[in-house]
Amino acid sequence: MHMDKGLDHTIIGESTKSFIDGQKGILEFNGIDIDALARHSTFEEVTFLLWNDRLPNADELAAFEAEIRSEYELGPELLDMLRLVPRDASPMHVLRTMVSAMGTTDPDCNDQSFESERAKAMKVLAKTPAIIAAFSRLRKGEEPVAPKPDLNVATNFLWMLNGEMPGEASARAIDVCLVLHADHGINASTFSAMVTIATQSDMYSALTSAIGTLRGPLHGGANERVMHMLQDIGSIDKVDGFVAESLASKSKIMGFGHRVYKALDPRAKYLRTFAEKIADETGNHDLYAMSTRIQDIMEREVGDKGIYPNVDFYSATTYFSLGLEIDLFTPVFALSRNAGWAAHVLEQHQDNRLIRPRCQYTGPHGSDYVPIEER
Ligand code: SDX
Repeated sequence: MHMDKGLDHTIIGESTKSFIDGQKGILEFNGIDIDALARHSTFEEVTFLLWNDRLPNADELAAFEAEIRSEYELGPELLDMLRLVPRDASPMHVLRTMVSAMGTTDPDCNDQSFESERAKAMKVLAKTPAIIAAFSRLRKGEEPVAPKPDLNVATNFLWMLNGEMPGEASARAIDVCLVLHADHGINASTFSAMVTIATQSDMYSALTSAIGTLRGPLHGGANERVMHMLQDIGSIDKVDGFVAESLASKSKIMGFGHRVYKALDPRAKYLRTFAEKIADETGNHDLYAMSTRIQDIMEREVGDKGIYPNVDFYSATTYFSLGLEIDLFTPVFALSRNAGWAAHVLEQHQDNRLIRPRCQYTGPHGSDYVPIEER
């Protein structure tokens, strides 16, 4: 037995999904470098890759896309439930609640076969965009917009969110962000999902666990905190003072550092180019300039400690420039990570062992039970 708080140095099993080299800043999905996937692939194709450990041929991709699109609709029961959710609820709480609710409307919820768990994952992956978009509209007093089954996930999401067709560049930008966020080894939310399915629970419960875990600001919630940080700083002339003060007070700069990467997160490298392009096109260049200033100072001050921008740092400026409301940033992360969460849950399901670590007991022994009147 060995103590490993935070499990930094613990390998819990084998996986064919993501390879991460934290020292060199490398990320591969089933052996394919993330940069190649961001340039050439789509969210649907990457989801197929993660769920099947190979790229699809043209017919397989078309069939997979059709399968996802056949599940886009929320349906009357889930839509009625969504209408009952308080308008001021946090979108991550809403998403967690609605994915959990999907377990109550699925007659096959207790079917634990691989096919059934995969079907549940497909439903959650396909319906998450509609849950996020419909809630975003309902809380503004607008009616949900029905999905269009002839659109891909990214384009359909922006269509349902805004009620108008997005530009090709915006749709492709969201699609690439979904590719970049799709999987990342045994991160906290993926581990949470695996622990859940390992008890022979179900996919809805596993994905609900994952969403609840992702929302934390040390994990997926960081992208929203990065945006609030940039807004709080306000202008580029305030950046140096803010960073110096944060480092002096040992408070964490959101969007920096990583448990595995001690070099630049390859996703951040890609997102930075996106942030620059989209911020310039949308008049948000100041946000980008502030971000690169923060990165320059952090690399100078703590780069030697292996603290570099992670996936959340430049995704904030990218999403903001694309017009996403800030509290939808983490739900969009979850939208994409449904692919990776499900991939690891199905992988665990196929070679399962209950995940049950120990802890070092440090309490007393041999204590008496003192009757309450004597306490
Ligand atoms: C994601 O695991 C994954 O793969 C996650 C993810 C995915 O795709 O699933 O990549 C997505 O969650 C990215 C991370 C998003 N979180 C943030 O941006 C929040 C800010 N980052 C930190 O909280 C932190 O870097 C963590 C939580 C991400 C990782 O922290 P660790 O590995 O527990 O390291 P640590 O907190 O022990 O820090 C080690 C040192 C400390 O200094 P010392 O006490 O040794 O002097 O590095 C410092 C920390 O103070 N440090 C930071 C810092 N992060 C670490 N200092 C300033 N700013 C930071 N952001």
